[in-house]
Order: sequence, then C-alpha cells, then structure tokens
Amino acid sequence: MRILILHGPNLNLLGEREPKVYGTMTLPELNAEIDRFAAQRRAEVQIRQSNHEGELIDLIQEHRGWAEGIVINPGALTHYSYALRDAIAAVGLPTVEVHLSDIKGREPFRRRSVIKPVCLGQIAGGKVQSYLAGIELLLKEGKRWSR
Ligand code: DQA
Repeated sequence: MRILILHGPNLNLLGEREPKVYGTMTLPELNAEIDRFAAQRRAEVQIRQSNHEGELIDLIQEHRGWAEGIVINPGALTHYSYALRDAIAAVGLPTVEVHLSDIKGREPFRRRSVIKPVCLGQIAGGKVQSYLAGIELLLKEGKRWSR
C-alpha cells in the first residue's frame, strides 16, 4: 500500500519542543522509525512536513493519484482547519489522524477535532506508536473503507 505521511505545523521542532509533552525524539528520528516500520510491513511511504495549511492541502491534492491512504498529524490545525478537512474529504482517500500526545487529556480546545469526522480513525497519545498504529490501521481497514 502506498501511504502519504503528513506532519503539520511545529512538528519540525520535535525533540526541542515541549519534550515533556511530545518526547525527545526529533522529526528525522521519528521519520526513520516510520520508514523502518513501513518497510517491515511492505508499505511504501512518502513523508512530508509543513508549517503551512495551504501547503498541506497542496500535498494532499498532489499525491491523490499516488497515495492509497494518508496518515496525518495535523498539529493545531486539527482543532480548526475546515480547509484541511475539506481537502481530505475531497480526495476521498482513507485517512488516519494521529497525535503524539493525548489530546483528550490536555487543554479543552484540543479535545475537538474537525478532521476526525472525515477519517477512518484517530489515534492519540502513543508518541511514535501513534503513527505506526495509524499505518497498521490503514493496512487493515484502508482497502475496505469507503466514504
Ligand atoms: C499534536 C497535538 C496538537 O494539539 C498540537 O497543536 C500539536 C501536536 C500532537 O501530535 O500531539 O501541534 O498534534
């Protein structure tokens, strides 16, 4: 399965950004774990990060012919970006929303996701494991999932 992995705003600062919340792993280290796991599961991945809502939308659109599924950590865009939600709905690809931290156990504004309703699932609180579980969920359910 070909999977587009997207990291949203501020995830480039992983390792130095609020390590108590997000852990000490850097983005290159996280990506290496994703690559290793994907290879083991015979999935093909393309990994991108952007701090910009429009660029994430462009990436989703540009990869729509290649990708068979998406794993996305939309960062704070999770909580308010209807444009990102619409992009996911528009391409119709099975998508899993993932988070490093437990968004339900933090500030109230993080409890709501406007992205989740257009996703196959949401996985939060597992740090790198959230991404790996997201890939696993796509491999298991992605092909059967249809909007
Ligand atoms: C996050 C949670 C979001 O609320 C936050 O804005 C982030 C990271 C996570 O991975 O835990 O940037 O998506």
